[in-house]
Amino acid sequence: METEIRGFDAHTARLAKKYISAGDVVAFHTETVYGLGADARNDDAVRKIFTLKGRPADNPLIVHVHKDYDLSQLIDGEPSYAPALRKAFLPGPLTIVYPSIDKVSRLVSCGGNTLAVRVPSSPIAQEFLRAVNVPIAAPSANLSKHVSPVTAQHVYDDFQGKIPLILDGGACSGGIESTVLDCTEEVPQILRAGLVTREMIASVAGDCGVYQMAAGEKPKSPGIAYKHYSPRCKTALFAPDCIAGALNLYDEEECSGGRAYILCESALISVINGRRMLDLGATGEEMANRLYFLLRDGERDATLIIAIKPKEEGGVMDGVLNRLVRACGGKV
Ligand code: TXA
Ligand code: MG
Repeated sequence: METEIRGFDAHTARLAKKYISAGDVVAFHTETVYGLGADARNDDAVRKIFTLKGRPADNPLIVHVHKDYDLSQLIDGEPSYAPALRKAFLPGPLTIVYPSIDKVSRLVSCGGNTLAVRVPSSPIAQEFLRAVNVPIAAPSANLSKHVSPVTAQHVYDDFQGKIPLILDGGACSGGIESTVLDCTEEVPQILRAGLVTREMIASVAGDCGVYQMAAGEKPKSPGIAYKHYSPRCKTALFAPDCIAGALNLYDEEECSGGRAYILCESALISVINGRRMLDLGATGEEMANRLYFLLRDGERDATLIIAIKPKEEGGVMDGVLNRLVRACGGKV
């Protein structure tokens, strides 16, 4: 199969509609990361997504709809704070988990009684979703465990010859996946941190919890339990005050014939001289925007990426640090 990368126009809309109706999988731009989409009502199409990605069968998918889609077709009720959250943050990088049974293929939510729904703000995603006018189940368009894609080329690198079409909207401005928010209980609870922060949600809903998986518990959002976001080279992560350790490891890697890179915030770039560097930027938004791009870029040349954890915490940094730690195998 040939994989076409196309911008959005009337012809592309017809192609996308044709593929989705036939149960095929189409990749598309969103403001967070690229998605790998199929008709959420079609068991075989949804199964294809899991197979293509090599995704564990117990990790549910997010359903994507355009901004005028009738939500009542997808959910079974909602808490009283949910409409205000939609008004404040949608379309945008917030995924809401609602009570829902049997509205789409059971494979989407892995047989559970909730459904994650997202209304992306990317104009390409909106046009695509409007053209097909069906709920589109879509995980990030990367092979399972690999770094999420933030350009059409990243999608192509993972799925060349395996999907017919990538809807190219350029680089993703957000750069990390949407915030996943459980709205099935009295107080909303963040299952996955992202660009819509706890503070932002609490300011609208009155309160907002953050889910912490207890030891031995079955996770509420299975995706958070898996190894994730990893580049194809070795990685290491150092605490902000362990720069000397990071530089030692860099020199060891170079001495043994490897190619090391240091990934760190802009403030450290001028402190660390004469080494290969990947510049994460200065603010939370900048670091979110650059992180996956740099990991994908770095892995093409590096044998080892050594990350130094940025100092800032809270807000958008919660999402950035969560991805960075997991990209580096989970330990500092
Ligand atoms: O920004 C995004 O959310 C991107 C773009 C393509 O929209 N999508 C994305 O999908 O990141 P994925 O499949 O890579 O991550 C979905 C996350 C997983 O952690 C999954 O466990 C969780 O959402 N999830 C999906 N449905 C859920 C549900 N019903 N209850 C709890 N967690 C759910
Ligand atoms: Mg993913």
